[in-house]
Amino acid sequence: MRGRPKIIHVVGARPNFMKIAPVMRAIGRAGFADQRLVHTGQHYDVAMSDVFFADLGMPAPDVHLGVGSGSHAEQTARVLVGFEKVCLEERPDLVVVAGDVNSTLACALDCAKLRVPCAHVEAGLRSFDLDMPEEVNRIVTDRLCELLLTPSPDGDENLRREGTDPARIFRVGNVMIDTLLELLPKARATGALSRLGVEPGGYAVVTLHRPSNVDNPAVLGGLLDALCAIQRQLPVVFPVHPRTRRRFGEFGLGAQSSTLRLCDPLGYLDFLGLTSQARLVLTDSGGLQEETTALGIPCLTLRENTERPITVDEGTNVLVGVDPARILVAARRVLSGSGKVGRVPALWDGKASQRIAEVLRDWRRP
Ligand code: UD1
Repeated sequence: MRGRPKIIHVVGARPNFMKIAPVMRAIGRAGFADQRLVHTGQHYDVAMSDVFFADLGMPAPDVHLGVGSGSHAEQTARVLVGFEKVCLEERPDLVVVAGDVNSTLACALDCAKLRVPCAHVEAGLRSFDLDMPEEVNRIVTDRLCELLLTPSPDGDENLRREGTDPARIFRVGNVMIDTLLELLPKARATGALSRLGVEPGGYAVVTLHRPSNVDNPAVLGGLLDALCAIQRQLPVVFPVHPRTRRRFGEFGLGAQSSTLRLCDPLGYLDFLGLTSQARLVLTDSGGLQEETTALGIPCLTLRENTERPITVDEGTNVLVGVDPARILVAARRVLSGSGKVGRVPALWDGKASQRIAEVLRDWRRP
């Protein structure tokens, strides 16, 4: 990049914050660029957004687009229009997007049309399931971005298989684990366990928010059946995503769900404190599959596929799908002490953001 470049980082939804925070800090330490932060506003509740800025020590956004919720088209289009204006005003030398949410795709598309180089943090992941909106976002974002920063070898392989020029691919490791390792001591000291009334190693944690799981009453009801059966053995703590909370009401599942230890979505530190001391995690989140692998905590993924296969091949993750009987068998295996033992993948070492800063500092447009 030229002299002293201007870099714009984009965050929009909950899983973006912990990926961009360490990258901004690493670039700040390296001191080679001026940085701006844009929040698209895809997530806007205090519990889904503001709390992360405080927990992660992130600067307040320089620009907030306030796009809010809507259909995929509406949300993506609002980011597309809003971020184009930001790029035209700010004239960045580089934009950094992360993950696979609608904001990621929209900003990558703006950059491609304006010919602004865009770097994708967490490139190359594929579930090969186009029913998942995030899979569309991943494929298109990677096709458009000039720098593809991958967390693991499967990311590189997927990109190469799609015909990506290897010169665009940089394996940097998993940047979310930088945040996890840095904040783990603080996370364990928040007192979240005593506030939730659970003991270290004596509870399960659940998160559910994928449309394929929570927008279908039969699937969501079956998952609740399995969770209620697990709760007979140990407390099941369930921080509930706003989408899922709404579905409990719409599908008449309020009474059944209330037998679990439901709470509002937690901030980063409280949630990491909770997961890091859990006996078992059950989830349909992508990031949590990685965090549990890094922590060595058994994870049952309530999906039929994953874009993060390394967490299954090397880590503690087991794909169990949504069949209640299958979930219970897997949960009992963990609770009886014969769950899977994993290892932490290479380059999930807390230094991915430093490697990203070095790549961005040295990169020149071909
Ligand atoms: C989005 C991402 C998903 C990510 C998830 C993490 C896409 C396509 N999906 O899904 O990849 O795993 O974030 O949470 O980008 N809502 C609130 N308050 C908020 C945000 C959302 O009440 O702050 C409610 C709204 O009713 C909204 C619904 O949650 O319609 C869904 O939000 P949305 O951003 O569309 O998708 P998520 O399901 O959160």
